Amino acid sequence: MADPKAILAIDQGTTSTRCIVFDVGSRPLATERRELPQQYPRPGWVEQDAEAIWRDTMATARSALAGAGQAVRAIGIANQRETVVVWDRRTGAPVHPAIVWQDRRTAEACACLRADGAEPMVRERTGLLLDPYFSATKLGWILDHVEGARRQAEQGELLFGTIDSFLLWRLTGGQVHATDATNAARTLLFDIHRCCWDEDLLRLFRIPAAMLPELRDNATIFGETAPGLFDGVLPIAGMAGDQQAALVGQGCLAPGMVKATYGTGCFALMNTGEQALASRNRLLTTVGYRLGGRTTYALEGAIFTAGAAIKWLRDGLGLITHASQTDDLATRVPDHHGVYMVPGFVGLGAPHWDPEARGLICGLTLDATAAHIARAALEAVAYQTYDLAEAMSADGGRAPTVIRVDGGMAANDWFCQFLADMLATEVERPAFLETTALGAAVLAGLGSGLHSTVGAAAGTVDPPRRFEPRMEGVRRETLLGGWRDAVRRTLTPLQ
Ligand code: G3P
Repeated sequence: MADPKAILAIDQGTTSTRCIVFDVGSRPLATERRELPQQYPRPGWVEQDAEAIWRDTMATARSALAGAGQAVRAIGIANQRETVVVWDRRTGAPVHPAIVWQDRRTAEACACLRADGAEPMVRERTGLLLDPYFSATKLGWILDHVEGARRQAEQGELLFGTIDSFLLWRLTGGQVHATDATNAARTLLFDIHRCCWDEDLLRLFRIPAAMLPELRDNATIFGETAPGLFDGVLPIAGMAGDQQAALVGQGCLAPGMVKATYGTGCFALMNTGEQALASRNRLLTTVGYRLGGRTTYALEGAIFTAGAAIKWLRDGLGLITHASQTDDLATRVPDHHGVYMVPGFVGLGAPHWDPEARGLICGLTLDATAAHIARAALEAVAYQTYDLAEAMSADGGRAPTVIRVDGGMAANDWFCQFLADMLATEVERPAFLETTALGAAVLAGLGSGLHSTVGAAAGTVDPPRRFEPRMEGVRRETLLGGWRDAVRRTLTPLQ
């Protein structure tokens, strides 16, 4: 039989699981998607059923493989990052629901560590901050709250993984417990300079080394699927956190290139090459990708609520029945009418890092309508991206010349234009928006020998659509001034 050239990409995200089979030219042959529910057992807590994640992954993967009409060569995985799963090495059963990256239950633990003066060392080694967003304190919480878990973990009976590791373990029938450098870089346990687990950090967060996965590059043979899962055995040849996968899928492979993905949150990453740039503006320094033992770094700005604000308009307020209606609503009114939304539903991420901040809508008058609120939600995401771009250019010394966008909200033309206006920078939207899955496929193509360089595969997509800035500077400054004022109100406790 001819050498198969199609790749199955698994994109396990916060709100959905998608599987796409790509042909050798990076064109999708089959796509399957399932929504993934979240549980909110207490205010600020966000959990998911790891078994449901596994079931959805298998169901979507099998359907995509069946619909592809071509034999598949390898599997690539991209995943929601930081989310913690702890499972029993013997049975494979999770000992607690997955604690999702949005979960704030360890805010106090982080504050205590900060008060003890731990942040500078953590920041220097991991490029991150002491915030409940990252994995370590969530993992510590499980070890402290599930009966017997700490003792079992110390004896090597329990394993820790982010979603990539958990899926890899299940796909390989419990044969491989590994993760990649991009996912490891989000745990607070990984030294991004030496690219290894760090003993001082393990001690600080009280995490037994026995439960950690092995570390690998992003494009390599991680393992093979267990017999019986699919027709034949497939290698898992690429793995990366979803935002880093999108960096690759967007072809942001040279220093200075920026991508912003609008999923549940918005994550903007700037490629900084082989330099791990320390941020002076509370951005994160992270691993962009690691190939052939060489690490490419990125500066990252993480906004916790982007698409989730639109979902809230639909599910929380009932203002819309489908996200695409926001485009129409936003254009129905001539301007924002003084209405601002600060979507701090799960606290605010970069550059504020305030886990206690909460959402706010201000500037309401009696003639404000649903359209103004919907518009304010879209605008808020653009303003937050502006804050990140400002911090990036202050850190990197130069403003990004172009920003490549993707994810659900990037399908909204009005939003893309407003974003270009706020950033005063060209916004480029690829013809194919599933760049996270594409990045996972590119990495698996590389890991399985289909491509010889990452650049060869990432450059094969159709021409993008460009949005040029066209708003007058004075108007832009006025809008941004109103936004800064609204954010100040959110950060300051009620007066
Ligand atoms: O860091 C969290 C991020 O990886 C989640 O991405 O696309 O699931 O919102 P997404």
